[in-house]
Amino acid sequence: MGFSMGLNLVLLLAMVATNILSLYHLSSTTYQSQTKAPTQQQVPDYLIHQLQTIRATINHLTRHHPSTTIDTNSKTTTTIPQDLLLYSRLSPIASSCHNHPDLLHNYMSYTPFTLCPHDTDLEETLILHGCHPLPRRRCFSRTPSKPSSSLSSDPFPSSLPDSNVIWSKYNCKSFSCLVQKSPNLGFDPASEKSSSFLAFKSELDLPVTQFLDLAKAANSVIRLGIDVGGATGSFAARMKLYNITILTTTMNLGAPYSEAAALRGLVPLHVPLQQRLPLFDGVLDVVRCGHAVNRWIPVIMMEFLFYDVDRVLRGGGYLWLDRFFSKASDLENVYGPLIGKLGYKKVKWATANKPNSKNREVYLTALLQKPVSK
Ligand SMILES: *[C@@H]1O[C@H](CO)[C@@H](O)[C@H](O)[C@H]1NC(C)=O
Repeated sequence: MGFSMGLNLVLLLAMVATNILSLYHLSSTTYQSQTKAPTQQQVPDYLIHQLQTIRATINHLTRHHPSTTIDTNSKTTTTIPQDLLLYSRLSPIASSCHNHPDLLHNYMSYTPFTLCPHDTDLEETLILHGCHPLPRRRCFSRTPSKPSSSLSSDPFPSSLPDSNVIWSKYNCKSFSCLVQKSPNLGFDPASEKSSSFLAFKSELDLPVTQFLDLAKAANSVIRLGIDVGGATGSFAARMKLYNITILTTTMNLGAPYSEAAALRGLVPLHVPLQQRLPLFDGVLDVVRCGHAVNRWIPVIMMEFLFYDVDRVLRGGGYLWLDRFFSKASDLENVYGPLIGKLGYKKVKWATANKPNSKNREVYLTALLQKPVSK
């Protein structure tokens, strides 16, 4: 049992490793053309630099990690491919992939250079289990057979074209079905046009006009941001009307959130909450965390999330917690102090009891400004 599992692992990771091999290949080709014909060099310097770094890392790891290990269960000596070891060490963020060898094996069981299997649900599952980024594959992803070519650049179109989504993995087979089942998921952009992020019905609301006024008064320009767990991009859509670019992280859990955002002309980033934000340090003006960021996230992970948000925010940028919910006692004893550790200025801090909550839960809406310098 142990041996066959081990063997499976080796096989599937060997497949994974083909990506590294192709990088190897690419880098060695680059070297050759560089030395033979320096005048015809077409690969930009920065790329060569990247490839050199990768190569150096690979050499370093190969020298320091012997490739032969003893499999104690079968008492045989297995030779693990070098690349497999390298992959696991080069990409520790995806090391959770190794914890789900069966899923990964399914994912990597495909015929190269043909249509990929239709396994978007498997992708979601793997990513949610921490296997992110997923290994690349050399197959063609499936596309809808008769997509509509009249794509709207209005972030609040009257409807989203059903023919631009592959529905087979979802219970609903149309956007109108999704709207009917869950009117609040954002699959009816037109209905958001006159409402989302505009109304001030309670202290928990922060209309975007008010947010922008607060930023303006603080001399802080808002141009770029990210909405963490932003579903179909409702926040990004609103901000687009102010010519502000917002990226939206979203997963396709049970419904085509990414496609919906993209059909509104908004950028969906397919990354789970536990993922380091794919952005450089200090580049964003605002990070909004909506419902997806809440007490169900383990505290330690939440702490990493907040510090990563801090990393990507520029000095003077804003963290906007929109209806963060937790138990009242936890907000006081756990999350309040956790947020406090960031040392941000509390521009807004409003709490209210969550209606009909058995666990004495509360909502928090906070607008926090990162200090300009630490
Ligand atoms: C957004 O940009 C467009 C094109 O530059 C401009 O016409 C429009 O007035 C801008 N809207 C806002 C709210 O600034």
